[in-house]
Amino acid sequence: MADTPRPLPEGQDSAPAAEISPVRPGKWHNAPMRSLDRDSLKHAAAVYAVRFLEPGTIVGLGTGSTAIHAVREIARRHAAGELPGLRCFATSSEVARAAEAAGLPLIDAEGPAVIDLTIDGADEVDPRLNLIKGGGGALLHEKIVAQASKREIIVVDEAKISPQLGTLYRLPVEVIPFGRAGQWHFLHELGGNPVLRTKEDGQPYITDEGNFIYDCAFGPIADPEELGAELHARSGIVEHGLFLGMADDVIVAGQNGLRHLRRDPVTGQVREVAVE
Ligand code: 5RP
Repeated sequence: MADTPRPLPEGQDSAPAAEISPVRPGKWHNAPMRSLDRDSLKHAAAVYAVRFLEPGTIVGLGTGSTAIHAVREIARRHAAGELPGLRCFATSSEVARAAEAAGLPLIDAEGPAVIDLTIDGADEVDPRLNLIKGGGGALLHEKIVAQASKREIIVVDEAKISPQLGTLYRLPVEVIPFGRAGQWHFLHELGGNPVLRTKEDGQPYITDEGNFIYDCAFGPIADPEELGAELHARSGIVEHGLFLGMADDVIVAGQNGLRHLRRDPVTGQVREVAVE
């Protein structure tokens, strides 16, 4: 993540906290109660999610500064012999390198047909558990892995919770190099104010598939399904960061504790699950 800028709204250097519903105190899993920094919150959410792994699980490894805590915790449990038969599928070259270094057994790029469980981060989460993802540039692989997963668990700190997608974060849109000026124009006409993602050295950020990313400031998105369909219909756009109806669980870590939100896959209803 070091060379990947984290696009935030103008003039804002960290995402503000927002609420999806009145925050009820949750229970910390093995953590002190007060004044945790953001990385400690990310760690708490990720470690909690790893509790859902069982022996023999095929697990999708998400990308980002939150998901990496899950990778480390999985590696710790694997090394302790708690997860026999574990196999892992990484959502980016970056996390694949980290997993390999940590001694995790990786499945090659062809991937498994079905993944049991994926633990990934997100940039923004709305009350329906729809997401914006792609801040780390891995949105295409992350969506492929999410769609192949029986269960997608998202781990976030409370600053990612938003009343409406697009309020906190720009929407990443991945385009192929050919004709990308035309994609810029299309996104501009849609009202996205697209900005080509660059690295710290000013060079364009290139995804694992050799593509570019435009970060789009649509502002609060009234109809994410409609916008997602418009983006999908455009040749040259290979993926966008709207993950709609893909998260089964969201684990939120905040100063008041952990919350576990669960989406019913049939009705789409979200309910809070007790944190043990
Ligand atoms: C990478 C992603 C990340 O999951 C998302 O950007 C959250 O990252 P972090 O946990 O570092 O805030 O979508 O493409």
